[in-house]
Amino acid sequence: MTCDPVRFGVVGLGRAFMLMLPGFRADPRVKLVAAAAPREQSRNAFEAEFGGRTYADIKGLCADPEVEAIYVATPHQFHCAHVIAAAKAGKHVLVDKPLSVSMEDGTAMVSAAREAGIHLIVGPSHSFDGPVAQARALIDSGALGRVRMIQALNYTDFLYRPRRPEELRTKEGGGVLFSQGVHQIDIVRLLAGGLASSVTAMTGAWDPARPTEGAYSALLDFQGSAFASLTYSGYAHFDSDEWMGWIGELGHPKSPEAYGGARKALQAVDAADAEAALKSTRTYGAGEAPPAASHHEHFGPIIVLCERGDLRLTPTGLHVYDNFEKSFRPAPVLRFPRAEVFDAVVNAVRGNRAPAQTGAWGLATLEVCYAILEAARTGTSVALNHQIAAADGAPHPIAEER
Ligand SMILES: NC(=O)c1ccc[n+]([C@@H]2O[C@H](COP(=O)([O-])OP(=O)(O)OC[C@H]3O[C@@H](n4cnc5c(N)ncnc54)[C@H](O)[C@@H]3O)[C@@H](O)[C@H]2O)c1
Repeated sequence: MTCDPVRFGVVGLGRAFMLMLPGFRADPRVKLVAAAAPREQSRNAFEAEFGGRTYADIKGLCADPEVEAIYVATPHQFHCAHVIAAAKAGKHVLVDKPLSVSMEDGTAMVSAAREAGIHLIVGPSHSFDGPVAQARALIDSGALGRVRMIQALNYTDFLYRPRRPEELRTKEGGGVLFSQGVHQIDIVRLLAGGLASSVTAMTGAWDPARPTEGAYSALLDFQGSAFASLTYSGYAHFDSDEWMGWIGELGHPKSPEAYGGARKALQAVDAADAEAALKSTRTYGAGEAPPAASHHEHFGPIIVLCERGDLRLTPTGLHVYDNFEKSFRPAPVLRFPRAEVFDAVVNAVRGNRAPAQTGAWGLATLEVCYAILEAARTGTSVALNHQIAAADGAPHPIAEER
């Protein structure tokens, strides 16, 4: 699509922004014109690189008439206030996952977006990854029949990467479910059609020094007789990227020799504020953005069993095992990191076409996170009530009327 670049403002110039930066730099369809951030160092870096305006908080960004869309990249606990402020100012919103910390906040955010007639997109999430979209297109084609079962697994050192204190407190959105589970749940929901009906699960919170859930196994039941098993460990010593050809989550080759790197770096800091300071060395204005990736991003091994064949997702494409043959279908050409997320924003803002990953979609994924916690706590199967189908390309009902 050729169009006037979508004029973006960003709130929060931390790690998440760094991961989107290569895309912002590469995509001529978007232009960063303003930013809001409390740290002067990152505001100065933004002005030096993009020449736009910067503000100490979101108010100025919302009042900036040039800004059409706001990327909310602040910590989880600010998503609700920042999304609602942006919506009230009539800006479209891309909010990094998770949608919010609580279901109440998420519901209010979805309502605010609907009332304002703006697009609310939850991303980036790994459900936008090229091979996931490729798998979904093959499933939608009906060539392999209905999805019957999905297995998703990821073993990482997530819990031992540097964290802010609240990232280790479940009540404040800490732990692996809200930061990592959302990726896996999004992918599985997208491939199974979106409408999960119930959850059984177990979780592990095994490190008293980092007292939050670091692992889970969950079984999701879907309408239409599919089910999925999701397993995640953020305590891993085994790194499941070994099974992804040593391509890391962000699409870069990974050295098996770097074993234990996160735990070693963490061992060198002795207090929570020193750990938060270590995290801030990876933010905008302090560190470098990751180099361009050579492969698509991924979120660990995923196998989809369909009626007439199985799919295995990799960072380079899909292995397809049908009744009589197996084949490999290369993934779409890698344009630049997270191109699919930028596609979604441009299609929404310029074409009024919503991706699957709307605010209501993000709320449904958040509901599964809470259901996993509750199912593990109570030992029961938890019914889901906020699920929506994976419907991308839908026009925005209110924006359409504006
Ligand atoms: N999709 C991904 O790959 C990915 C990766 C990392 C983080 N995230 C998400 O991004 C969000 C931020 O996480 P992070 O790791 O970047 O954290 P971070 O601490 O690195 O960055 C957050 C930034 O927000 C700024 N900030 C804090 N309060 C603010 C406020 N009131 N107004 C404006 N700016 C404010 C901080 O100064 C900091 O620079 C989280 O919700 C996380 O889940 C997503």
